[in-house]
Amino acid sequence: MKILAINGSHRKGKNTADLLNLVLEEAAALGASTELLELSDYNIKLCRSCNKCLGRPQCSITDDDMGSIGEKLLEADGIVLGSPVYWSNVSTLMKNLMDRSRYLHMVQNLLAGKVGGAVTNAGLRNGGQEATLRIMEFFLTAQGLYLVDSRNQEDPIMTSGVAGSLLADIKDGKIIWRKSAMEDEAAVLAARQLGRNMVAAIKKLKNN
Ligand SMILES: Cc1cc2nc3c(=O)[nH]c(=O)nc-3n(C[C@H](O)[C@H](O)[C@H](O)COP(=O)(O)O)c2cc1C
Repeated sequence: MKILAINGSHRKGKNTADLLNLVLEEAAALGASTELLELSDYNIKLCRSCNKCLGRPQCSITDDDMGSIGEKLLEADGIVLGSPVYWSNVSTLMKNLMDRSRYLHMVQNLLAGKVGGAVTNAGLRNGGQEATLRIMEFFLTAQGLYLVDSRNQEDPIMTSGVAGSLLADIKDGKIIWRKSAMEDEAAVLAARQLGRNMVAAIKKLKNN
């Protein structure tokens, strides 16, 4: 079982990567092989809207790294997308990946039947996390993946999405910042649960 995490942050190894690594750590403990792909390491050109992918499941741009990322997406049983909130939206790198993945969708949903999940982190509380999660989730379901969230069915009110924030609280008019999303206990719990839920869903699908 392979689970691929894709980090759309424009900086590697920071808060979004930390949360994605928790998802992967938990999945690996249950036997999954895992990989974290940092989009900032890759050269992915902008979609040209040439619409060639309407007629064939292939992108007309071939002189960049999208082909190898597409292979990784196709090989994975589970895909977890992570993006920081940039203006209540996904990052430019994540949006670009979505646009360039259109060839996997237009003729036939080539990622159909895989399991998908989403992770985000923002500076603020209510900083746009919900919108950002929904945008990634919409992409995953449009591509035919089965969406898994971070709920723990034994304790269903504990988490409702892997949505970290760096603003912890305001005390006496002063903002208390977290050093990292790893200090956001709700996000940490949710990330770990998402990893477990993804593995359970993949196992169920493979056994049927
Ligand atoms: C261009 C840009 C736009 C941002 N927009 C928001 C925003 O709308 N709401 C928010 O709470 N934080 C916003 N932030 C803060 C990031 O979400 C936050 O720093 C996050 O932790 C970055 O993820 P990273 O640590 O994985 O790089 C923005 C940051 C950048 C660079």
